[in-house]
Amino acid sequence: MRWPKGLDGLCYGGDYNPEQWPEEVWHEDVALMREAGVNLVTLGVFSWARLEPSPGRHTFGWLDRVLDLLHENGVRADLATPTASPPPWFGLAHPDALPVSADGTRLTHGSRDTYCVCAPSYTEACVRVTRALAERYRDHPALAMWHVHNEYGTGCHCDHVARAFRAWLRARHGTLEALNDAWTTAFWSQNYADWDEIAPPRATQYLPNPSHVLDFRRFLSQAMLGHYRAQKAVLRELTPDVPVTTNFVFGGWVPVNHWEWADEVDLVAIDHYPEGLEEAAEQTAFAADLARGWAGGRPWLLMEQAAGVVYTGPRMRAKRPGEITLHSLQHVARGSRGAMFFQWRASRGGAELWHGGMVPHAGPDSRVFREIRDLGRLLPELAEVGEDPPAPASPAGAGSEAGSRVVADVAVLWDPECWWAVESPGFPSSEVRYLDAVRQAHRMLWRGGVTADFARPGDDLPAYRMVLVPGLYLVSDATARALSAYVERGGTLVVSFFSGIADEHARVRLGGYPGAFRDLLGVRVDEFLPLAGPVPIRFEDDGAEASGTVWSERVEPRGAEVLARYAGGDLDRLPAVTEHTHGAGRAFYVSTHLDDDAYGRILRRAGLPAAVAPPGVELVRRRGAAGREWLFALNHTTEEHEVTANGTDVLTGASVEGTLRLRPRGFAVLRAGSQGG
Ligand code: GAL
Repeated sequence: MRWPKGLDGLCYGGDYNPEQWPEEVWHEDVALMREAGVNLVTLGVFSWARLEPSPGRHTFGWLDRVLDLLHENGVRADLATPTASPPPWFGLAHPDALPVSADGTRLTHGSRDTYCVCAPSYTEACVRVTRALAERYRDHPALAMWHVHNEYGTGCHCDHVARAFRAWLRARHGTLEALNDAWTTAFWSQNYADWDEIAPPRATQYLPNPSHVLDFRRFLSQAMLGHYRAQKAVLRELTPDVPVTTNFVFGGWVPVNHWEWADEVDLVAIDHYPEGLEEAAEQTAFAADLARGWAGGRPWLLMEQAAGVVYTGPRMRAKRPGEITLHSLQHVARGSRGAMFFQWRASRGGAELWHGGMVPHAGPDSRVFREIRDLGRLLPELAEVGEDPPAPASPAGAGSEAGSRVVADVAVLWDPECWWAVESPGFPSSEVRYLDAVRQAHRMLWRGGVTADFARPGDDLPAYRMVLVPGLYLVSDATARALSAYVERGGTLVVSFFSGIADEHARVRLGGYPGAFRDLLGVRVDEFLPLAGPVPIRFEDDGAEASGTVWSERVEPRGAEVLARYAGGDLDRLPAVTEHTHGAGRAFYVSTHLDDDAYGRILRRAGLPAAVAPPGVELVRRRGAAGREWLFALNHTTEEHEVTANGTDVLTGASVEGTLRLRPRGFAVLRAGSQGG
């Protein structure tokens, strides 16, 4: 982890796009930034056409003035390479570098992200503009960090991609025999006799080959990483002391494995836009925990969030008073060293004119700007949380960087490749959705007041007392061994249905489901029965009833104890939930989609403590050096709540003994520990 140069404490600011505004507005911008306590802006992320209006002709004068102005006003720059938005001339000069969709349509300029990362002319143009920027600004005192590109995620199916895909496949599989075997090409006569016969998975007549599609997504992730690396190499060469990052975006359409990317950035940075306001708090916790996982437990940075509105389905929703602050504090509590937004000033035109800004269309005399300003005054008060070094033996692993560590002793496994694989067409149920399964696991912990880490399959998991494994469809032998070893050594695992099914090539593990986990779970399944409606489940200990939906399966215990059975339907009286002792630990298996209450009951049986805070109140602990600890208490509800806590309120200096009162949508950060003053 490397921190933006010249910045201490927490980062506060957002995407700044001065090229959209006349110069006099820039002066108002910096005055308002000072008022709001902004100390970092992402600059120039879509300004390629202003920087290079025609091939090779650079116009840096305006950016010189912006950077000087920012510097004079104490604002540092997360200077972006503008490569996510090539100018109109680029596509006209290099039509072969415009992306081709799966159905063979070549897209044209008119939006953003209209390029192919495998087109040599695109990479050359990107490296050229990156070099020109870095040569120009390498010594500028405002330069704090490089922000490469924006939200990598755009795929392409053109012939450049086909060539690069083949080279990638050769490196991955070695021989055509191995590839044919891995992809099971014997089915439907897909056997490849020559590498040149292989194309990207373009639109085809009926179901595509799932192993082909999966390898293509893996390839795209690495092809984009190659594009990032090419820019990073230039930036490292010219500015070795300036950290380099890119902003990760999350979504089913994003063919990026962020576990792999996290090793290549100096600071993990994410953008987060909750899908709806009702679930915004739990989705924020989810995204923040995921970012901390990618960062290996070290500090990371929330690079973008919405200031005023959230787009949800057919209409936008305004964030309610206090939510900008609460969501920002959630990120900080869970490891972000700051809170940044898209964008500083709401645009008056262009594609995203209705996206909110820290300065909305109404200007600074607005509720949103007032909350932004108040948040900017608040964050420096919390700087101690980001600066305190971590305790040497915190579960997420010790490091020498500044920044206390979030305390978490439960983990959820996260594997984007499972997400990609499980949602293939032609699978047993289109209602089995990986993200839903992981969200439910995380939500149960969040609602129970338990802070969770996300862990990467195959990781050693010694620090966790419980690990949840939702829908881990693809499992390598190494991952299966790691999970088994974790339980043997005393860990508790809760595995849910459609896990352990396939190997890393998406081929089914034979001999009974859940292939890779049969011995660990002490069960064997010979048949899946996806459900059209709910089926009753009865718990063995007290006869309580619940229901399963989406999925069921014929589970035969092979050493496992039955905790709940199906009570009706084709599987009447057969096991629905089991528990198996394996070595010194226990492994639970949930063979259907349980509602939250029933799933929570299984988690409590597995050792999850009862909730410590009222619903909607979030408690997160961070541990620093010398026994120092901070408690973030965030009330997402519109009622007042009390929680049990002790310490000194970092914001007011008040001493809290036993009872902490939280106002509606209120919050507190308490410091406890030996240096508590
Ligand atoms: C982000 C993107 C920004 C802006 C924002 C709007 O994903 O990086 O440039 O488009 O979404 O929600």
